Amino acid sequence: MKTILVTGGAGFIGSNFVKYQLNTHTDDIIVNLDALTYAGNLENLADVEENPNYVFVKGDIADKAFVDALFSEYNFDYVVNFAAESHVDRSIENPEIFVKTNILGTQILLNAAKNAWQTGKDDLGYPTYKEDVKYLQVSTDEVYGALGKTGMFTETTPITPNSPYSASKASADLLVRAYGNTFKFPMNITRCSNNYGPNQFPEKLIPLMIANVIDLKELPIYGDGMQVRDWLHVKDHCSGIDTVLRHGRLNEVYNIGGNNEKANIQIVDLIIENVKKRLEEGAYPDIKTDYTKISDDLKIHVEDRLGHDRRYAIDNTKITTELGWEPSYTFEEGIVETIDWYLSHQDWVAQVKSGGYQEYYEKMYSKKK
Ligand code: NAD
Ligand code: TYD
Repeated sequence: MKTILVTGGAGFIGSNFVKYQLNTHTDDIIVNLDALTYAGNLENLADVEENPNYVFVKGDIADKAFVDALFSEYNFDYVVNFAAESHVDRSIENPEIFVKTNILGTQILLNAAKNAWQTGKDDLGYPTYKEDVKYLQVSTDEVYGALGKTGMFTETTPITPNSPYSASKASADLLVRAYGNTFKFPMNITRCSNNYGPNQFPEKLIPLMIANVIDLKELPIYGDGMQVRDWLHVKDHCSGIDTVLRHGRLNEVYNIGGNNEKANIQIVDLIIENVKKRLEEGAYPDIKTDYTKISDDLKIHVEDRLGHDRRYAIDNTKITTELGWEPSYTFEEGIVETIDWYLSHQDWVAQVKSGGYQEYYEKMYSKKK
């Protein structure tokens, strides 16, 4: 039985991971530490809030006194750090919070775990730790920068981040690496490609485009729309993280990806086609959208993102050959299931869009036209 601190567990991937853990490792205790920023939503965890093995704690990973106290209260075996500011566009508008949460927050967690787990020192003065403890940093392929038409990111690709978001994630990775080296601290870093699936905040490409098609709003494609992302279903990301957490070699980095490159424009076309098809079939009678108005005409090309990375692609050879992990979804089935999830969870969409979302949307997109 393990006690696992999951940070950022009320967000998109974190909430999927909490549910994945509670379903697959039913003896483990999950403590979910989340600050409930605009991206954190306890509705994502409504199914598990009564589970006796699940605890929610509201707090900030960058609050040292709070984090240290939490480590005194619980005997954590594992820490999985999802908590982050995660949206590139927001990092271009306001980088400061990315530095605080993503870099300082990571350092505070690392130090709290190191202090909690240290048992003594070895002959050379390096800390020694409790058995079978681990810190896992959830990172991103964006730390590797951008690719041209060919090639893939491997774990040894140099770290050359291009956005304030990816620079903050890369900085966090370097701190985790440094703790591994300087303090022999037991850690892994996972670097995943773009995720899609249920409960993603509709500032990101796929849920934003689904929501706009349903509302018959313009579909804002940045630049020429030929930027390529390598998409992985969030449940496959969760199983990949779990595999590394329990079986990954200490102090190693593992890329997680499903070999599924798509240009943004292809994704938007698939969304237009499938939302229209499902509404035409009458699958969602409560949605009153006039589906005859869903067409390619909704697409508009808007000003490109500053410093927009052209292409990402993950080489997943290490995790597949060394740890035997495989993705379970094909993109074709995953995207249809995801579209159906958003169509059947319009209450969830309305709830997440009821806060500061409209203001964000107007501010971000009115200036792009
Ligand atoms: P998200 O924005 O949906 O969720 C982030 C969560 O962290 C929210 O619940 C938020 O309330 C919480 N949080 C933010 N600041 C906090 C703080 N200071 N203290 C405690 N909690 C805080 O993000 P996501 O898409 O679920 O991404 C999760 C992690 O996975 C991030 O570290 C991100 O960099 C990484 N990642 C994301 C993707 C992707 O495609 N979304 C791909 C690869 C890696
Ligand atoms: P996003 O979901 O923000 O993820 P990331 O920037 O971390 O890859 O964006 C995915 C791609 O979609 C990226 O190339 C930017 C593009 N994009 C648009 O064209 N329009 C949009 O409204 C958004 C949000 C993204």
